[in-house]
Amino acid sequence: MEKIAIKARTHTCGELRAEHDGLTVTLTGWVDSRRDHGSLIFVVLRDVYGISQVVFDPSEDKQVYESARELKNEYVIKLTGKVRRRPEGMVNPNMATGEIEVVAQDVKILNRADVPPFPIVDDVDASEELRFRYRYLDLRRPELQKNIVLRHRAAQTVRRYLDGQGFFEIETPFLMRSTPEGARDYLVPSRIHKGKFYALPQSPQTYKQILMIAGYDRYFQIVKCFRDEDLRAERQPEFTQIDMEMSFVEEEDIFRIAEGLMRTLFDEVIGMSLQTPFPIISFDEAMQRFGTDKPDVRFGMEISDVSEFVRSSEFKVFSSTVAGGGIVAGINLKGGAGYSRKQVDGLNQFVIDLGGKGVLTAKVKEDSWDSSIRKFLTDAMISGINEKLAAEAGDLLILIAGEKMQTLTNLGKLRNKLARDENLISKEEFKPLWVTEFPLLEFDEEEQRYVAMHHPFTSPREEDLALFDSSPGKVKARAYDLVLNGYEIAGGSIRNHRLDIQMKVFNLLKIDDKEAREKFGFLLDGLRFGAPPHGGIAFGFDRLLMLLAGENSIRNVIAFPKTTSALSLMDNAPAEVSEKQLKELGLKIIASL
Ligand code: AMO
Repeated sequence: MEKIAIKARTHTCGELRAEHDGLTVTLTGWVDSRRDHGSLIFVVLRDVYGISQVVFDPSEDKQVYESARELKNEYVIKLTGKVRRRPEGMVNPNMATGEIEVVAQDVKILNRADVPPFPIVDDVDASEELRFRYRYLDLRRPELQKNIVLRHRAAQTVRRYLDGQGFFEIETPFLMRSTPEGARDYLVPSRIHKGKFYALPQSPQTYKQILMIAGYDRYFQIVKCFRDEDLRAERQPEFTQIDMEMSFVEEEDIFRIAEGLMRTLFDEVIGMSLQTPFPIISFDEAMQRFGTDKPDVRFGMEISDVSEFVRSSEFKVFSSTVAGGGIVAGINLKGGAGYSRKQVDGLNQFVIDLGGKGVLTAKVKEDSWDSSIRKFLTDAMISGINEKLAAEAGDLLILIAGEKMQTLTNLGKLRNKLARDENLISKEEFKPLWVTEFPLLEFDEEEQRYVAMHHPFTSPREEDLALFDSSPGKVKARAYDLVLNGYEIAGGSIRNHRLDIQMKVFNLLKIDDKEAREKFGFLLDGLRFGAPPHGGIAFGFDRLLMLLAGENSIRNVIAFPKTTSALSLMDNAPAEVSEKQLKELGLKIIASL
């Protein structure tokens, strides 16, 4: 398709090459820098496409040369000049336009700019607060422009791929009824129906299921989701999902589509080829080996349960833990025996800060251990543990005793921390894997009831239906997560398409028939009118982009992110509203904090 040119310029700032030598061009953009070299003035002009060097030469045009003195950083200018090859030795191989420069013949200032509060450069030394307040300046930095353009490319690739696979892009409402997905809702008061509220979708989950019931077979949407939850580096109150749903499918079908999407994205966006199919591990195995349901498998240091060796040890902490149903487990930091007392204390404190009791360590020697617990253990116990943890002289073994899940979780966090501290993670590597066979339910201690681990529309495994009444905690779900380098980048499940099973799940969640009807009557009704078997998945688009861009926060791949306290510093949201607006909505603020 031919690109329609605009009148103001002939080229963009990233476009000129040696082949344009001799051509008269007009560029538009921002003054990136100005260097006065006495006889010559150099200006670097920037737009989103790149940068070009402009030279103002008094021997070419005295007046134009003089006008260059007026140019300051971030002025918007229109510049006409002649392209010439840079002299030998002046070529800049790090710049796409580095073979040429433009000799200025005319310059017009389209707009002036105040001195920016921080320089428009990569690796800028400015607080996030300042950058967010002046996000339009922040977004001019090449680093962010690269990420935002990458985001655009990725979105186009997603659309092309899914269209090619026969998916229909269908929009779903933002003003909806609250559905439980685990987080708190953002609510929107209704003016027309005072006292009633819409909820912003935590995801389009119920709508996409309705679309399957309506017969649309394959749905997708690149869609905003809203969750009022505590924020972290990989969480935002509004974030974007690549949301999909398919009819008549099983797990395998969804895995193939999702893997195809990942392959296409990695190939087209960063030129990397991913190996498919992705490995699959169960939730139980992930917890046992990595102490988390989102394992980073770019490095080893897996967790081993050594309870069997220490159950009869004289060391009470070990023997009583195992007797009480807990476990003793550990990891092996290869070559870590050189850790100082202070470093070991640091690991202990790390686990205490996580709510654990601390760690016990052993430095492995040729014939024994250097450890405070050495004297309580027999040689057989030590060699058993050594073997299980593949210990060799020079290693540092780190053991934790306690309740099973907490012990595994703490070891998992310690494993990640040690890998970071010891630089065991290769930044260029991408290792996706599927985590499957999640429990359907998890027990919420606070509420003293089961809650859905994924969401309440997830189907239990057929073979576990018998466990529903006897041991609901053991029922496994037909749910799956896609994990990449320690991040959950997608999650989904096969859904309940049979009304009786959906109602059984609601009952387990202590959602009685009345509440179910009230909240999800539309979906329950839909299930009575010929609902096909269906399932789907949603990718966290921001997280995926963060990994594709090599960033460590999703805030760097979102044009207008919120701070960790959910503020938008540029436009100062959230903000108070007028009395009139409140009145129209029938609302009264009873306390301002
Ligand atoms: P889930 O809640 O697992 O599933 O969300 C899917 C993916 O969205 C991303 N994600 C987030 N990203 C940024 N900020 C957040 N606050 C945030 N919360 C979630 C994660 C996650 O894997 N309706 C189901 C999907 C389904 O069953 O098909 C859902 O929303 O990468």
